Amino acid sequence: MGTVIEVEDLRYTYMENTPLAHQALAGVQLSVEEGECVAIIGHTGSGKSTLIQHFNGLLRPQQGRVRVDGQDLSDPGLDLKGLRRKVGLVFQNPEDQLFEKWVGDDVAFGPLKMGLPLKEVRDRVRWAMEMAGLSFEAMKDRPTYALSGGQKRKVALAGVLALRPKVLVLDEPTAGLDPRSRKELLGRIEGFNRREKMTVIFVSHNMEEVACLADRIFVMAAGQIVAQGTPREIFGNREVLLQHRIGAPETVEILYRIQGLGYPVDVGAYELDSAAAEIVSILRPQGVKSHGPGI
Ligand SMILES: Nc1ncnc2c1ncn2[C@@H]1O[C@H](COP(=O)(O)OP(=O)(O)OP(=O)(O)O)[C@@H](O)[C@H]1O
Ligand SMILES: [Mg+2]
Repeated sequence: MGTVIEVEDLRYTYMENTPLAHQALAGVQLSVEEGECVAIIGHTGSGKSTLIQHFNGLLRPQQGRVRVDGQDLSDPGLDLKGLRRKVGLVFQNPEDQLFEKWVGDDVAFGPLKMGLPLKEVRDRVRWAMEMAGLSFEAMKDRPTYALSGGQKRKVALAGVLALRPKVLVLDEPTAGLDPRSRKELLGRIEGFNRREKMTVIFVSHNMEEVACLADRIFVMAAGQIVAQGTPREIFGNREVLLQHRIGAPETVEILYRIQGLGYPVDVGAYELDSAAAEIVSILRPQGVKSHGPGI
């Protein structure tokens, strides 16, 4: 175990040296440990997508330093192919990621580029599609242009998984999915992290999914990381939430309201079961011990 991604004072300006120059990253500091599941949150335009595009070398640091698995991304001799294999990035917009005519070919693109034997390519494509929630048999011969938004998102994910990356970076992975697909995908992401031991970094505007998936949260504003901590530390700290205008999961909002009415609840109990237990605890007469959730 060690640090897998290390970012120091990273700055990035789009269209530098033109009248349209726009500084998207203004000195980002962050590190991610191997095996972690990390969420990056922050308002629209705060620099989340720009930041994570540095993790697989899609953007190169203009100033500051990015190190991935010990490799410095500013190193002129950087093995970019190796890096892309190690860090799989699923874009915010799947249309930007699909370019082959057929689904199977699209998922096979990365493994073929790696020069793997055809049998292994096929095995990987099958595995990656099933992992992304797509039936291999039913979907491999479908044209990519004729897929629904959610299906495109799954194909893009499969294409990245087929590289069997060590680090999986997802830009708003559940945007546009129906509640069931969203839940299934969250379960799979958790599986990649816990069972496949992938380091996961995901961007999300959905605080419920951030609370249930992330070990640690980074909050971005105006191109910087303005707060970081466990979900309990972030959502349980009213000042941080108000200062950075971060929404909290509904469970936390309810606990804050109950606290505001004068009841002594733990507002950091953001998980559904613990929030329920907090509410039950104030319904009980003083001194009666709770037997945990579900009663
Ligand atoms: N290709 C580009 N050219 C110029 N400016 C850009 C470009 N891409 C992003 N920006 C600007 O950089 C800033 C950061 O954009 P970025 O896409 O990183 O934000 P974000 O946090 O991912 O937002 P969202 O939550 O809406 O996806 C924004 O102000 C955006 O307008
Ligand atoms: Mg974005």
